[in-house]
Amino acid sequence: MTAGGTCGYADEYADFVDLRTLGAFVTKSITAEPRAGNEYQRVIETRAGMLNAIGLANVGLEAFLAEKVPILEKLRLPVFVNVAGTTVDDYVKVAAALDEVHVVRGVELNISCPNVKAGGIEFGTDPRQAKLITGEVRKACRKNILIVKLSPNVTDIAAMAAAAIDAGADAISMINTLKAMAIDVEKRRPILANVTGGLSGPAIRPIAVRMVHEVYTKVARPAGVPIIGMGGIQYANDALEFLLAGATGLAIGTAMFIDPGCIVSIRDGIADYLRRHGHGSVTEIIGALET
Ligand SMILES: Cc1cc2nc3c(=O)[nH]c(=O)nc-3n(C[C@H](O)[C@H](O)[C@H](O)COP(=O)(O)O)c2cc1C
Repeated sequence: MTAGGTCGYADEYADFVDLRTLGAFVTKSITAEPRAGNEYQRVIETRAGMLNAIGLANVGLEAFLAEKVPILEKLRLPVFVNVAGTTVDDYVKVAAALDEVHVVRGVELNISCPNVKAGGIEFGTDPRQAKLITGEVRKACRKNILIVKLSPNVTDIAAMAAAAIDAGADAISMINTLKAMAIDVEKRRPILANVTGGLSGPAIRPIAVRMVHEVYTKVARPAGVPIIGMGGIQYANDALEFLLAGATGLAIGTAMFIDPGCIVSIRDGIADYLRRHGHGSVTEIIGALET
């Protein structure tokens, strides 16, 4: 799958790669109202990754339904819409509207956003907030699959996964970006206008793999809930690490900026590994880590 926010609304990538190589397309975060996002500079390259503070810039629910859904319909892929907000009502409004859209198979809740009505605590850093938002959105998802996307900016990622699963998540996706910062030493100023941003790309992969392993063994496997793993996947070997750690699905984000064709080489590399190791199906290696 594409990682939410890294491939826009799909048409941006159509000239570079056949998106039908993917198992599913995940949109950028959609909010109830349009958002311009943060001031520039909002993206910088770092060693082995990138730092972004886009600020959830998006067209908003109404324009998404009118202008972007027709594009997504042409993809002939399952579509998941990443949903963000600053209040529970915002999330519920967007999720309820998406439940009426035929091409949308599910929503991915971006809970890495502050709840303004709860004093700005991020939904994704407090298990009670995560449970609340998941439970309320669950009621609005009657046909749609509900994926909850975890923030890695916590001390106990398994507790966050447990909260989301208890409240009815069908799947967990992980990880979102790590809160980080870069400084221009000559100007003695933060490089990002927002001061901090989210770190993604190869630099975060070992952290993401560790977190997937932890959530899989402690919570997801016992509950029978699948994990969609992401964070720095660029080559087939990276993807295989996530599968062995317990991920059932895989999403690619930052690597798409370097080489949109990586989705083809990752898919082919996994198939080659399965052949070499005598497996008939990818399901045989999910969580097959020997410890
Ligand atoms: C430029 C950029 C924009 C992103 N926008 C979103 C977003 O709108 N919603 C979201 O849930 N995650 C967003 N993410 C996080 C990614 O979906 C993903 O969780 C993270 O980047 C780790 O995967 P990667 O290392 O393969 O990029 C964004 C990441 C990047 C680099």
